[in-house]
Amino acid sequence: MVEVPLAPDARTRRDLEEAVPSVASSLDGRRFSFRTALPGLTLMPGDYLRIGADRLGHVHSIEVAAHGPVSLAQGHGVLLDGLDVPFHEEVFVAASADLVVDWVERTRPARATLDVGTLSRVPAVRFPLDAGGFDRHTFFCGQSGSGKTYALGTVLERLLTETSLRIVVLDPNSDFVRLGEVRDDVPPDVAQAYRAAAAEIAVRRAGDVGADPDADGSDGDRLHVNFRNCSADEQAAILKLDPIRDREEYGALADLVDSDTLEAAGGGVAELRGLLAAAARPETRSLGTRLRNLGIDRWQVWSQGEAGSVQELVAPGGPRCVVVDLGSLGTPGEQAVAAEAVLAALWRRRSEREPVLIVIDEAHNVCPRVPGDAVTAMASELTARIAAEGRKFGLYLLVSTQRPQRVNELVVSQCDNLVLMRMNAAADLAYLADTLSFAPEPLLSRATDFRQGEALVAGKIASHATFARFGPRIAQEGGSDVPTAWAGTGR
Ligand SMILES: Nc1ncnc2c1ncn2[C@@H]1O[C@H](COP(=O)(O)OP(=O)(O)OP(=O)(O)O)[C@@H](O)[C@H]1O
Ligand SMILES: [Mg+2]
Repeated sequence: MVEVPLAPDARTRRDLEEAVPSVASSLDGRRFSFRTALPGLTLMPGDYLRIGADRLGHVHSIEVAAHGPVSLAQGHGVLLDGLDVPFHEEVFVAASADLVVDWVERTRPARATLDVGTLSRVPAVRFPLDAGGFDRHTFFCGQSGSGKTYALGTVLERLLTETSLRIVVLDPNSDFVRLGEVRDDVPPDVAQAYRAAAAEIAVRRAGDVGADPDADGSDGDRLHVNFRNCSADEQAAILKLDPIRDREEYGALADLVDSDTLEAAGGGVAELRGLLAAAARPETRSLGTRLRNLGIDRWQVWSQGEAGSVQELVAPGGPRCVVVDLGSLGTPGEQAVAAEAVLAALWRRRSEREPVLIVIDEAHNVCPRVPGDAVTAMASELTARIAAEGRKFGLYLLVSTQRPQRVNELVVSQCDNLVLMRMNAAADLAYLADTLSFAPEPLLSRATDFRQGEALVAGKIASHATFARFGPRIAQEGGSDVPTAWAGTGR
């Protein structure tokens, strides 16, 4: 390489820049500012510093500053070992992995922790999440392919093995249908511990009646919704009935439900169709025409007299973990009904006060800001109600999306935990900074540079807001990506 000679004044400038000491100061012993030399700089936001003899600092921001002709790096961060004692111009160096491990271990909560990954700036250090922090609502977001579902899977696996929290997963992409199956490359002891927890996972997917009957009379793992267990409001929304505009048909449905005729006939949609067709009142018969025209009577999602509807599964005493494979259902209408029925059943049983983590993947579809139909509107309102009031009943949300601004904002704003993966859209990041102000903005803005699997983790689940890399997973990933063989070696 050819050395470009510096002009004499440039040499002086360079000497001055190299001579800038690495020093940090703090006025309150909680936050600190620092400056350091630009030449040879390796410091990044998210790095850990040993300041003075024993303080541990976490860098949040760093920028270039000019002081006359001399440039240097400066920034600020938080003190993790904060003694609340101010200090001035103490020398700092990069903290060793041992020092960070030591701090992580010293501050590890007494209750369960979830070993979900490593600190992305100190890969030698595993980063435990505080399981108790999931008693707040959690927001997972990041653009498509950033690793949300993978990271979410890692969290669920650890919650299953390390806690006794019940979990209900609304799974629009069939990503968690293999949550109970251990990967081949998992160490035997981890696999064994996981299998015990995995035995408590019930996966429910669309299927034909009688295809796989269980000894208890239920239809094996068939996903079905009991129409009779839906409230009058839900039933009206499913039938797209407006209490004012469609008052005659709405009244006919209310009469039918109130009179217990439907109940006596078996309560299913097939029975409803029969009763409506045979009815004497014209408005009742037009309700039957509506049912047929909407195609609702042909939906596979309805219970047909068997036990084990999703509403029953999420009731107290149901399986430890239920994965509702919404993606297996044939139509968006059925998916909306199944999601709404689960949320409604969970809300109805709130007085039981049994803690449940409600996981909603692809939340922009399940609880959107602008719902496309009446059932989705009910699901979105229920999620917002759970977000606002659910915690006191033990109903905790974990919502995941690639479109934060398309999720009901009443849900997002109630989240106290954030797992933010790669996100390029400046508007989305600005929205998050505004809505989830507990997440430090300088760290949040780094999301544009994250690699797959990397995240900003902030809130009660994390001892401090920091960058983590999730994985490895224990269970198989579900879903099925579109094959990419068409881009292969040609004809
Ligand atoms: N931490 C990780 N380690 C290894 N592989 C990962 C990691 N995170 C993601 N992947 C892989 O990257 C792919 C995409 O990840 P994932 O499905 O989790 O993305 P996503 O954010 O949920 O995307 P979408 O919004 O489209 O659902 C998957 O095949 C997954 O196996
Ligand atoms: Mg996903």
